[in-house]
Order: sequence, then C-alpha cells, then structure tokens
Amino acid sequence: MAKPSSLLDTRVIYCGDNLEQLKKLPDACIDLIYIDPPFNSNRNYEVFWGETKEKRSFDDRHESTQAYIEFMRPRCVELARVLKKTGSFYYHCDWHASHYVKVMLDQVFGEDNFQNEIVWKRSSAHSDTKQGATQFGRIHDVIFLYTGGGEATFNAKYLPYDQGYIESHYRHIEEGTGRRYRKDNLTANKPGGDTSYEWKGVRPYKGRYWAFSKEKMGAFESEGRLVYTRSGMPEFKRYLDEMPGCPLQDVWDDIAPLNSQARERLGYPTQKPLALLERIIQSSSNENDIVLDAFCGCGTALVAAQTLNRQWIGIDISPTACRVMAKRLRDVCKLREDESYWLHGKGFVVRDLPWTEKQLRAIPPFEFENWAVIALGGIPNKTQVGDMGIDGRIYPIGSEPTAAGKEAGQLDFMDDWYPIQVKQMDKTGRPDIDNFEAAMMRMKRKKGFFVSFDFSSDALREIDQFFRREHIVIIPLTVREILDETIAQRLA
Ligand SMILES: C[S@@+](CC[C@H](N)C(=O)[O-])C[C@H]1O[C@@H](n2cnc3c(N)ncnc32)[C@H](O)[C@@H]1O
Repeated sequence: MAKPSSLLDTRVIYCGDNLEQLKKLPDACIDLIYIDPPFNSNRNYEVFWGETKEKRSFDDRHESTQAYIEFMRPRCVELARVLKKTGSFYYHCDWHASHYVKVMLDQVFGEDNFQNEIVWKRSSAHSDTKQGATQFGRIHDVIFLYTGGGEATFNAKYLPYDQGYIESHYRHIEEGTGRRYRKDNLTANKPGGDTSYEWKGVRPYKGRYWAFSKEKMGAFESEGRLVYTRSGMPEFKRYLDEMPGCPLQDVWDDIAPLNSQARERLGYPTQKPLALLERIIQSSSNENDIVLDAFCGCGTALVAAQTLNRQWIGIDISPTACRVMAKRLRDVCKLREDESYWLHGKGFVVRDLPWTEKQLRAIPPFEFENWAVIALGGIPNKTQVGDMGIDGRIYPIGSEPTAAGKEAGQLDFMDDWYPIQVKQMDKTGRPDIDNFEAAMMRMKRKKGFFVSFDFSSDALREIDQFFRREHIVIIPLTVREILDETIAQRLA
C-alpha cells in the first residue's frame, strides 16, 4: 500500500464538475495528470453511456470546435496550476479537435513544455471503407504530453526488437554459446587520451582513434569480446541479450483496444485499456507519486495507479461513473471504500456524491435513474430502445444462465430478473403504475420495483389490487427509504 500524501487527500474520487473540484486543490501538488475528456465529435461525444439518454443531453453542448476548446481551456488552466514543475500532463483526444487542442495547450502550458504527440493505434484497419471514399481509415488517437517546466520524471521504456531487425542487425551467432551478436566499430573520431596506439599490428584508420584505452582493449580481448577482420582490424562483439531493447517511440501500435471479450471490460465504450494507462503512469511517475485523472470515467487511470503503488485522485461529473469506478476499485484492487479505513491511510472514499433528496431532484433524469437502479443493486439499461419501458434489472443472487442467447449482451441471457422502473417525480400516480403493470405482464415477471419520491394513494391501491388480480408483486420504494437504507428487507 502506497503511503498517504501529507500535502493533500489522495485515494479520493470527487463527484462534480472538475472546474469546481480542481479549485479545491493547492498549487503544484500533482506529479502526473492524464485526461481523456469527452471529444467534440458525434462518435465520441461523451459516450460514457453508449447511445443513451446522456448522449442526447450532451449533444448540443459543444456545437462547435471553438465552444469545445473554450469549455476545455479554463479546466486546462486549473490543471496547469496544480501540476508540479517536475510533473507531466497527458491529454488524450483524436483528429476531431487535436489541432485546436494543441494550440490551446501550447498557450496554457507553454510551447517549450510540449514534449510529444503520441499516436496510439486504437483500432485495426477498417475493412468496410465505402466505395468512393475520399479518405484513409482513421484508426488512431492522439495523446499530447507536456511537462511542468522543470526536470520531469521520465522512465524510458524499451520494447523487444522485432525479428526482422534482429536478423538484419544481429546476424552472427557465437559458436558454443549460441548467443547472437553484432560487430561494432572500435574507432572514434575524437582523440581521448592514449588512443592512437598500435593494437596487434594495426592502428586506427587515418583521422580516427581507438574508442578505448589499451587496458580496456586488453580486457575485451581476454573476455573474448573481440573479433578481427581479414585485415586484422578489431571489432567489438555486442551481444543481443545484453541490449535493453528498442527505446519506445511516439507511435504506439502495440496496445490493443479493449475487445468485446476483454476481462477488464465494463461495457462503457470510452473505457481505455489498462495497459495504456500503465505505460503512461510508469513512464512519467515513480512509486508514491500523485496521479490525477480529472475526467476519469470508469476509473482506468485510478486502477492502474493503485496497482502501480501510486497515490491517486479522480474527478468525474457523473455520479454513476463515480459508483462504477468505486466498484471497480473494490473488485479489482480489493480496496475498501470506507471512511474510517481511509483515515488510517488505507482504502478510499468517494466525495460529493448527491445524497440528499434535494440534490437528487436536481440531477439529470438519466443520472437519477442510474442512481436509483444502482442503489438497489441493479443494472441500468444501456439503451432505451427495446427495453420495454423499464430502467433497470435486478438479478437475484443465484440466477442461472439459460442455455439460449448468451451472445445477446452482458446478462441478457439470464432469465431470472426483476424489472425496475424509476420516475423522478414528486408523486407517482395511477397511470404510471398501469404502464408498469402492462410492461410486467408483457415481460412475464412475477416481481418488480418502482422508485419515486412518493406515490399517490390511488397508485398504492392499484398496486394492491394488481397483486390480488394477477399475483404479481410491485414494490413501491421512495427515495427517502433508499437514502435511509431501510430497504434491505423490502428487497428480499
Ligand atoms: C471519455 S470518458 C473517460 C473514460 C476513461 N478514460 C476510462 O478509461 O474509463 C470522459 C468522462 O468525463 C466525464 N466528464 C465530462 N465532463 C466533465 C466535467 N466537466 N467534470 C468532470 N468530469 C466530466 C464524463 O462523465 C465521462 O465519464
């Protein structure tokens, strides 16, 4: 477990707009920042939720690239403020706005602090390019790297050489040991001490010098590291197995996107692979350093930071994203979400989640639905199409998959589930109950849950009569009951 920072609270997820949340952090306190904001594009416009209701509400937020840049600029100003001089900042985006983002970041972080434009190949070639297309396939994301103006942490990474390179550059195989090596020139163009001596009857070519002293050459000779050309010129045996590999460059094509079968996949289209975040964190931070992701989605950067023994802070405006990543940290990192644990330097906490009735009335409807479904231990519906008008499902413990239809989607193949209907309204009336009853009959469910701020007496009477008529149970739950956590017995 990494040491807690004395400077600021870490292992905390803040729920809220990062512009507000960042203002609470002191200057120059973060070693590494990674952000992957919603892009200014239809494909990626914040599809944390996929093609859902949230997408619609985001649709008009950035009607132009300029508006997107103006949304990002003050956030980047705050991020530059909290970054240490020795820190690094990574901004993940794609072709839609990357050129405008670069100009804005040069202004905010300083052109001289720009280090790299990393190209991450995020998908394989598109084979479905339409006939008559006027463009090449767009298969990469752009990740800009800036540093804070001082000497930033950088741990160079080496990749294994590719086979073609090995065969063309390390052509020789040592007899007896089978070690591959290349022959390196032992002369240099600058004199360095006694470097014009004669070695076994030869001297360096005209205008050149030996790269090593006579003693060093003697040591090489006795280690068996010298080979000689026909003319008697010594050459150095550079063994492949002593080389670190090929230094990582700025084109990354060795980290695959998450495929539909990936174990780490949570089902959110914008989730980035852990390997990508691990590379960034290992390259630009050391153990115990503080990593910040201010648009942290389902928490990939936080999980990578935790696994690599870094301190971390996450911010996301979506309460559901905050809950999803909290669950991920509990499941994957085996971290406890517990205030008293956290006060003792262990575990983590989520701050500023909406938790009062007043706050819950004010959040967008899709967030409210997700909040209610997740609070009941259910799974929110990803799409509003084909969900028969319900907002989520609870799978009771012990549900068994049916044989058919396993390919259909995450848990769709399990037939044992209860529907959840959520209405962000003061008083749910009889017509809403009638609609839910019809949906339950269509779905052939025996039990379902209805969440609202309150229910009219007509609505409650109808729930009762429905049970007498059809033997189908609808459990009405108020937000207050969920907040008071008095629902456990009613869910059983
Ligand atoms: C592209 S996703 C990040 C995905 C993440 N890299 C991962 O691997 O899971 C962008 C996230 O930014 C969040 N977001 C959008 N606007 C925000 C804001 N103003 N403050 C904080 N978070 C915001 C969205 O809720 C979404 O979860």
